[in-house]
Amino acid sequence: MAILRNKLRRFSAACYFGLVGFVVLAACLSYGQTKNTCLDCHSALPDPLGVSQEKFSQDIHSQKGLTCASCHGGDPSSDDPDKAMSRKAGWKGKIDHKQVPQLCGSCHSDPAYIRQFNPSLRTDQLSQYPTSVHGKRLAAGDRNVAVCTDCHSVHDIRAPSDPRSTVNPVNVANTCARCHADADYMKGYSIPTDQFAKYSTSVHHEALAVRGDLSAPTCPTCHGNHGAAPPGVDRVENVCSNCHTFQAQMYEKSTHKTAFESASLPGCVVCHSNHGIGHPTDAKLGTGPDGVCMRCHAPGDRCDQDRARLQDSLSQLDGAIKSADQILGVAESFGMEVSEARLGQDQARDSLTKARVTIHSFRKDLVDQDIQAGLKVAAKDLQAGNEAMVERNRRRVGLGISLIAVGIVMAGLWLYIKKIES
Ligand code: HEC
Ligand code: HEC
Ligand code: HEC
Ligand code: HEC
Ligand code: HEC
Ligand code: HEC
Ligand code: HEC
Ligand code: HEC
Ligand code: HEC
Repeated sequence: MAILRNKLRRFSAACYFGLVGFVVLAACLSYGQTKNTCLDCHSALPDPLGVSQEKFSQDIHSQKGLTCASCHGGDPSSDDPDKAMSRKAGWKGKIDHKQVPQLCGSCHSDPAYIRQFNPSLRTDQLSQYPTSVHGKRLAAGDRNVAVCTDCHSVHDIRAPSDPRSTVNPVNVANTCARCHADADYMKGYSIPTDQFAKYSTSVHHEALAVRGDLSAPTCPTCHGNHGAAPPGVDRVENVCSNCHTFQAQMYEKSTHKTAFESASLPGCVVCHSNHGIGHPTDAKLGTGPDGVCMRCHAPGDRCDQDRARLQDSLSQLDGAIKSADQILGVAESFGMEVSEARLGQDQARDSLTKARVTIHSFRKDLVDQDIQAGLKVAAKDLQAGNEAMVERNRRRVGLGISLIAVGIVMAGLWLYIKKIES
């Protein structure tokens, strides 16, 4: 019995020590793995040396298991700053603004390395960057231009798809504006600082920021993320065609395209501007303050005559659609059945929309095809409305006659009753 108790005691003691040993070993192992004296020490330092645990935990590099030393070098297992930040341990020292693209690019231009983490991530940022104005000027010694960290932040870098990322489509205009809308910062340069203010009034900003339409462009959609223009676009001014394909197809065939190109004029931007693009109306074709044609064409010349005819055609169809709409509305309010003509109106409106696209050929014969198609439908709908009103009047006359007849019968009855009574 005593032997058994002894054995049991020894066994449980062995278990106890084994467990303690295991816990200590595990603690040592995990401490060794996560030991990051850089973060321990720097999280307690004041700005600009401070990097808080909270901030760095948001950084995609931290989340993917990279540490301070992955970018800065050094020995993150040493508590002694002289050893942790020794050149012998690969510590790179203060990273100069000018070295940032090389540092970030050292990993991001290495497809084999990046593929281990994310096979679909582009690796062309470092090769694209020198083609941008930012990259060219940095190479020439300008320290005010944007490097990777100016757009992406530092120590809390997030994937662009993260809504809190500085380069997320919803935030990136503000990121560009930090420099480009700051007149003081841009003082030494000859370019305007109104891009953000104008963009904020544009149809594109309205679509993206107000309606949440992510297919609308923001600054880097037109200017490119890292290069001089987005992929596949030779010059920024030609980017409009990526999205507005129907207008572009018409414009491609126009005399304007060749004329503007040979005069080095920026295509669509000539008539629509680049940053403050508004909703166009037919007045753009007119001779008033919203008109754009008379900037180049002289009153009464061949092109001006065509311009006037184009404007007339559009307003003719617009007027025809409105007239038909009006009479159909009145007919409907009297309970007449005009739903077929209502559907026809949608078709007429489509023709008008199409004509406003075809305008970009600046050819009267092509625009006229859409206008005539629309006019035909609108005329039919107008007729349907008129017929419905005639029908309504006929019913009204019929109703009147039957009321009179009923009245006569009633009067006759009344007279008859009177006669019987007397
Ligand atoms: C015990 C505290 C401590 C540890 C550990 C430590 N640092 Fe530092 N670090 C400092 C202090 C203090 C400075 C500023 C002193 C100076 O300029 O020489 C500094 C400076 C730096 C700078 C340069 C900042 C500049 O503007 O010059 C970088 C980068 C840096 N540390 C990164 C690291 C990295 C990476 C590690 C880990 C491998 C690390 N540090 C470990 C305290 C520490
Ligand atoms: C993804 C790469 C990357 C990682 C990871 C990273 N840094 Fe940095 N760090 C930079 C770059 C780049 C700069 C220079 C920023 C600039 O000039 O825009 C910088 C700047 C600094 C500075 C100098 C600040 C100053 O204004 O002088 C310190 C200190 C620093 N980092 C410490 C750390 C510490 C501590 C960690 C880990 C918690 C860390 N860094 C992680 C890239 C990194
Ligand atoms: C030590 C290698 C290394 C360095 C240096 C480095 N990165 Fe990264 N970066 C990575 C890895 C790995 C990822 C994770 C990729 C993934 O999983 O999506 C990443 C992710 C990113 C992402 C998110 C990409 C996405 O859509 O998921 C951005 C943005 C980024 N890094 C920017 C930078 C910037 C800016 C610098 C310089 C300050 C930098 N990186 C320096 C390795 C590095
Ligand atoms: C002028 C601002 C700007 C600069 C400078 C910049 N980026 Fe970017 N970066 C962006 C924008 C904008 C995106 C894309 C956002 C999106 O996808 O909607 C992006 C995306 C990325 C991505 C995700 C993959 C991709 O290409 O879409 C990585 C990685 C990245 N940048 C790294 C870098 C590196 C490395 C540098 C420096 C060589 C750099 N960036 C310089 C604005 C910038
Ligand atoms: C750190 C400040 C800074 C940030 C952030 C920045 N830029 Fe710039 N950018 C400059 C400076 C400085 C120039 C040089 C001005 C010049 O070209 O004369 C410049 C030049 C440019 C040019 C060329 C202008 C020309 O000369 O035709 C474009 C286009 C441009 N930036 C777009 C952007 C976009 C888009 C973003 C945001 C994704 C952005 N920038 C973010 C500072 C910045
Ligand atoms: C719809 C496309 C588009 C959008 C969105 C856009 N730009 Fe532009 N931007 C252009 C075109 C086109 C030019 C003129 C061509 C050129 O100079 O390369 C231009 C020119 C510029 C220039 C040169 C100086 C100037 O004003 O002519 C800067 C800087 C610039 N844009 C910055 C921005 C910033 C910052 C934003 C966001 C707030 C932005 N752009 C949004 C198309 C766009
Ligand atoms: C990334 C795609 C994209 C690019 C590039 C783009 N746009 Fe747009 N554009 C849109 C979207 C989306 C709308 C909003 C459509 C809507 O209101 O239904 C829009 C609206 C417009 C409108 C107003 C249309 C209307 O019916 O009121 C005009 C004009 C316009 N863009 C012109 C341009 C010009 C000029 C350029 C080049 C400098 C350009 N766009 C570049 C996507 C783009
Ligand atoms: C010579 C001047 C001129 C040029 C160049 C031009 N447009 Fe237009 N654009 C107009 C006029 C005028 C209208 C207004 C039509 C209307 O509403 O009556 C218009 C309307 C538009 C609309 C709105 C269409 C709608 O349904 O109301 C878009 C989008 C558009 N243009 C895009 C472009 C694009 C993209 C280019 C370049 C491929 C371009 N424009 C080139 C004059 C021009
Ligand atoms: C930036 C100057 C400029 C603007 C703005 C401009 N045009 Fe033109 N337009 C030209 C040039 C140059 C030609 C070709 C030379 C010529 O035929 O006179 C031309 C040709 C034409 C033609 C003849 C086309 C052909 O196929 O023969 C018409 C029609 C025309 N423009 C109408 C317009 C209308 C409508 C507008 C306004 C929406 C407009 N233009 C705005 C410069 C301009």
